[in-house]
Amino acid sequence: MVQRASRPDVAPAATPDGPSGVGRRTVLRLGGATGVLALLAGCGADGPVVTLTPSPSGSTWTPPGGPLAFPDGFRWGAATSAFQVEGSTTVDGRGVSIWDTFAARRGTVRGGATGDPAADHYRLWEQDLDLMVELGLGAYRFSVAWPRIQPTGSGPVEQRGVDFYARLVDGLLERGIHPAATLYHWDLPQPLQDAGGWEVRDTAARFAEYAAIMVDALGDREIDWLTINEPKTTAYVGHRYGAHAPGLHDVDAAVRAVHHQLLGHGLAVQAFRASGAVGGIGAALNLQPVYAAVSDPDAEPDAATLAAVRCTDAVENRLFLDPVLLGTYPDDAIGSEPGQLPTGPETLAEVVRDGDLAIISTPADHLAVQYYGVTAVDSTGATAVQYPTTDASWQQVHAEGLHETLTRLRDEYPAIPLLITENGIPDRGAEGTLQDVERESYLRDHLVQAARAVQDGVDLRGYYAWSLLDNFEWGEGYEQRWGLVHVDFETQVRTPKDSTRWFRTVIAANAVEA
Ligand code: FCB
Repeated sequence: MVQRASRPDVAPAATPDGPSGVGRRTVLRLGGATGVLALLAGCGADGPVVTLTPSPSGSTWTPPGGPLAFPDGFRWGAATSAFQVEGSTTVDGRGVSIWDTFAARRGTVRGGATGDPAADHYRLWEQDLDLMVELGLGAYRFSVAWPRIQPTGSGPVEQRGVDFYARLVDGLLERGIHPAATLYHWDLPQPLQDAGGWEVRDTAARFAEYAAIMVDALGDREIDWLTINEPKTTAYVGHRYGAHAPGLHDVDAAVRAVHHQLLGHGLAVQAFRASGAVGGIGAALNLQPVYAAVSDPDAEPDAATLAAVRCTDAVENRLFLDPVLLGTYPDDAIGSEPGQLPTGPETLAEVVRDGDLAIISTPADHLAVQYYGVTAVDSTGATAVQYPTTDASWQQVHAEGLHETLTRLRDEYPAIPLLITENGIPDRGAEGTLQDVERESYLRDHLVQAARAVQDGVDLRGYYAWSLLDNFEWGEGYEQRWGLVHVDFETQVRTPKDSTRWFRTVIAANAVEA
C-alpha cells in the first residue's frame, strides 16, 4: 500500500529509475563545493547497511519483569511550540510569521484555522505552569517566537517579547521545572521569507543574530537550548511538498533550505559559545528508521529495495546527522535514484561554501531526537505502510524503532548526550478523548525502549512528550489533538487526559513498567 500522507515526511512516490547497483557510500569531507560536485550520488545495496533492515516482524527482545529505571537527574517533560499554543498573534509588537501568512491562504489549513486563539498560552502561561506542577513535570520545552523578538526578522529588539520569555523561564525555575527553549519552531518572520527565506544564506546569519539576542538575554538561566526544530520537515514539507509554510513545491528550494537551516544551527551554536551563557545547546532532529517494504516478513529484500532503503535513509536521517555530528554531507541523498531527493548534486554544491561544514559541526552540548515512528520503502522508493498508523497518516508506530535510532546514534556517531524532545500520538477524531488509553500505551512502549537503550549504554538525559496541550497542529488546524491535556478551544478550559495520571507515576518513580 502506498501511503499518501497529508504531511509527508517522506516522499509519497519516487522516480521510476532503477538502482545503480553500485556505489559504496562515500562522504563529503570538510571543504564544500568542489567536493560536492566531484562525487556521484549512488545508493548501492552493497553499502554498510547497519540498522536499516531489521525484520519487520520485530525483534525477539522482551522486557524484563519489574520497572526499568532511568538515570538520576533524568528530565521528564512535555513540549509545545510558540505558534501552536500562544495565540495573541498581534499582541505586544509581534511581527507576522510565515505561518500567519500560510494559514491565511485558503485551503492550506483544515477548517481555515489560524494561530489564534491556539491554546491562548501567551495569556494563560501562569496557569499552564501551575498545571505542569500538578502533572508532576520536571521540565518543559517551549519555543521562542522569533517575530516577537525581532518583528521583521532583523534589526531592533522588541523588549516586550523578550520579557515574556524571561517571565516564562523564571516562572518555570521558581516552580522547579527545567526549561528547554527552541529558538526556531517554524515561525520565520515574514519579511525574511520575502527576502528568500531559508533558500538564502542571509537567513542563517539573521537567525544567528536573533539566537545571540536570546542567549544574551537569558544566558544566566540554566536552559537546554535547541536551535532549529526539525529542519527536515521545514525543508521537505514546507519547500518540496508545499503542505507547510512557506508552501513551495520545489525540490531545489528544499535542498537549499536544508543547508541554510543547518548553517543557521551551527552559527547559533557559535553565538551561544561566544555569549558565555550557562546551560547547553544543540539541534532538534526528527529521525526514523527506514525499512525495506516486504510482502513476506521472512523474505530477504532484493537489491533494488535495499538501495532505495539506503537512499531514503540518507534523505531522512543522514542528510542531517552527518553534517551536524560528522561535518560531512552524505553523497547518496540527492540524485535520480529511487528514494533520493530528485535533483542534481550541484543544487547543494552551489550553496555550500568552504568552511560551512565546520560551522555546522561546531561541537554542541546535546542532540535532541524527535521520534514518532518508522517508514518503509519499496524498490521504487515509494512509501509502504507496514506498521499501525494513527490519525496522523504519516505516522507508522513501532516503538522498537526508537531503540534502534538511539543505539544507531551510539554506534555510528561521536558520543553526545541525547534528549528525546518529542514523542507522542494524536487522539482519534477531531474531538479527542480524555480516556486516552492509546496514548498511554504508546508512551509506555516508547519509554520501555528508551530505558532499554539506557541499559544498552545510550547517554539519554531526558524525555519530553509531545505535547503538553492540544494545540494548532499545522495543516490539521485544531482537528488533531496531541495533548496530554485536553483544551476546549472555545473556553480555553484545560482538562488533563487519563494518561497524565500514569505519566505522573512514571516521573515519580523515574522508571517505567512494561
Ligand atoms: C512534529 C512537530 C511538532 C508537532 C508534532 C506532531 O513534527 O515538531 O510541532 O507538529 O510533529
